[in-house]
Amino acid sequence: MEVHHQRFSVPFEYPVLFVKGAFAPGSTELEWAVTRDSPGGRHPVFVVLDAGLVAAQAGLVSAVEAYVRSHATLELRGTPLLLPGGEASKNDPALVATLHARFAEARLDRHATVLAIGGGAVLDAAGYAASTLHRGLRLVRVPSTVLAQCDGGVGVKTGVNAFGAKNFLGTFAPPWAVVNDLSLLSTLPLRDARAGMAEAVKVALIRDAALFDWLEANADALARAEAPVLEELVRRCAALHLAHIARGGDPFEAGSARPLDYGHWSAHKLEILSGHALRHGEAVAIGMLLDARYAERTGRLPAADLARIAALIARLGLPTHHAALTERSGAKLRVLAGLEDFREHLGGALSVTLLRGIGRAEEVHDMDVAIVEAAVEWLTERAGHA
Ligand SMILES: NC(=O)c1ccc[n+]([C@@H]2O[C@H](COP(=O)([O-])OP(=O)(O)OC[C@H]3O[C@@H](n4cnc5c(N)ncnc54)[C@H](O)[C@@H]3O)[C@@H](O)[C@H]2O)c1
Ligand SMILES: [Zn+2]
Repeated sequence: MEVHHQRFSVPFEYPVLFVKGAFAPGSTELEWAVTRDSPGGRHPVFVVLDAGLVAAQAGLVSAVEAYVRSHATLELRGTPLLLPGGEASKNDPALVATLHARFAEARLDRHATVLAIGGGAVLDAAGYAASTLHRGLRLVRVPSTVLAQCDGGVGVKTGVNAFGAKNFLGTFAPPWAVVNDLSLLSTLPLRDARAGMAEAVKVALIRDAALFDWLEANADALARAEAPVLEELVRRCAALHLAHIARGGDPFEAGSARPLDYGHWSAHKLEILSGHALRHGEAVAIGMLLDARYAERTGRLPAADLARIAALIARLGLPTHHAALTERSGAKLRVLAGLEDFREHLGGALSVTLLRGIGRAEEVHDMDVAIVEAAVEWLTERAGHA
């Protein structure tokens, strides 16, 4: 056997900025984020926006255009492209083709920037298209939801849905920069703001008991989406997320463990089963409580911790049940298919994150179907759906 062991490593780095009013005429952060490798040059920029965000913030498109035009270092290419807000932009394969076509028309090269502004779904779709054109354009994300600012928008993944599965097509592609503009959150509907908080609960549960205490102490203000607490939640949650990617030892998820996907095996399935009536964060809230009950039943999680988790989720105005949870195909709960989808998505053996306490997680490689069934029944009874 003749083997040459090819080996090299590439350091990744990208700035994550926290700003207010990123597109205000005098603001310089976004320009810096785009031009940071050669501030004197001229940088082509193609703008992709979330139509839901644009509908809520009249004048945003012209503000972005004016911002790009007013900086000599930036060059607007093409006309800004609006993608439908939410999961619709990840469900339609034609949209990826449209993105590719518009990038090609605008003659973007690998040093050109796709500036994607919107919720996690639009960022995922725009990021996927950007990462596959010429094997990867620069992507500057401006996330506009709580979820995207604290989770998906600051990470290294892109994706769209296909073949009935979430994120079936996707890439690991670190962004060129992320600009978290906290003022964009002001128009976010309460329901979406709360859905984003589910990811903060998740990261607190697996990593940071002090954050969980803080979430409990501020639950009422958070449920009303009051700006100061929302901003602190975004900062703390984003910092934990970034630390996990940088120091968790597996930024591109080569292993099978994926603690940031706590509660997600069922959540991804519930999103699909509900026909996306459930928001991602809402499905995660249900999925986290399901797995918390499982952990409690299997002697891992103290009952008192389970009670705290259930209470916090409810106080944040997040759901703890949905009819999709009890749908059956023959005798089998349909949500259970999420376990196999999850294993397949990660590769290798099944690996599910369960809690040993608040802020403490472990990986398990086997889920007892009867106990999952009983946990679903528990959620159903609690919700009065029995
Ligand atoms: N790439 C990753 O690592 C990662 C991680 C977590 C989640 N995600 C993905 O993110 C998606 C969910 O993203 P999300 O929770 O940000 O929601 P979303 O993108 O589905 O947006 C929710 C709604 O809010 C609207 N909207 C966005 N910003 C707004 C604003 N400021 N004001 C008013 N309306 C606004 C959108 O148009 C949409 O209708 C899911 O597809 C999920 O799979 C990806
Ligand atoms: Zn998630």
